Amino acid sequence: MAIRKIIKYPEQEALLRKPSAKVAKVDKQIRRLIQDLKETLADHGGGAGLAAPQIGVHVRVTIVQFGQDENNIQPPLALINPEITAAGELRPGFDGCLSIPGLATWDTPRPETLTFTALDEKGQPFEMEVRGADARLVHHEIDHLDGILYLDRLEDLSKLYRRVQTQKGEKWVSLDALKPGL
Ligand code: NI
Repeated sequence: MAIRKIIKYPEQEALLRKPSAKVAKVDKQIRRLIQDLKETLADHGGGAGLAAPQIGVHVRVTIVQFGQDENNIQPPLALINPEITAAGELRPGFDGCLSIPGLATWDTPRPETLTFTALDEKGQPFEMEVRGADARLVHHEIDHLDGILYLDRLEDLSKLYRRVQTQKGEKWVSLDALKPGL
């Protein structure tokens, strides 16, 4: 069990772009990976989910913390080999990523509702329907397993904001206002 280093964009982009392989068997090694993901996420306050490739392990495993909309954050739930079986209409909304620190957007189009199947930590299959921020979260994490970053889904980078420290605390400033920016 260990807190792992989170792979960062753009320095280690190649690792974030590499697609992850399906898990053949939910064994001790996978459960240890899930534990590492949980400890690493807990160590980084503010993250809602973490996918295995973000710690450099290219298998289809991610953890998510549901309840983001209600401010009633649930303990991390592991999704192994998650697959989307139905998706609602696309809506622009919030996206941030522990691999892209200090940046965020409120404009990534993602499905409003999502139905998916996955295996749990015991290797048991389950199906779930989520909506709102939880649907966005699952979609974001499955993207990581396919080497997709939220930046790819943004129509233009002027929709990107950078967190800056001011005397009054933190605020988000449009990247446009900060050119050259990225
Ligand atoms: Ni992410």
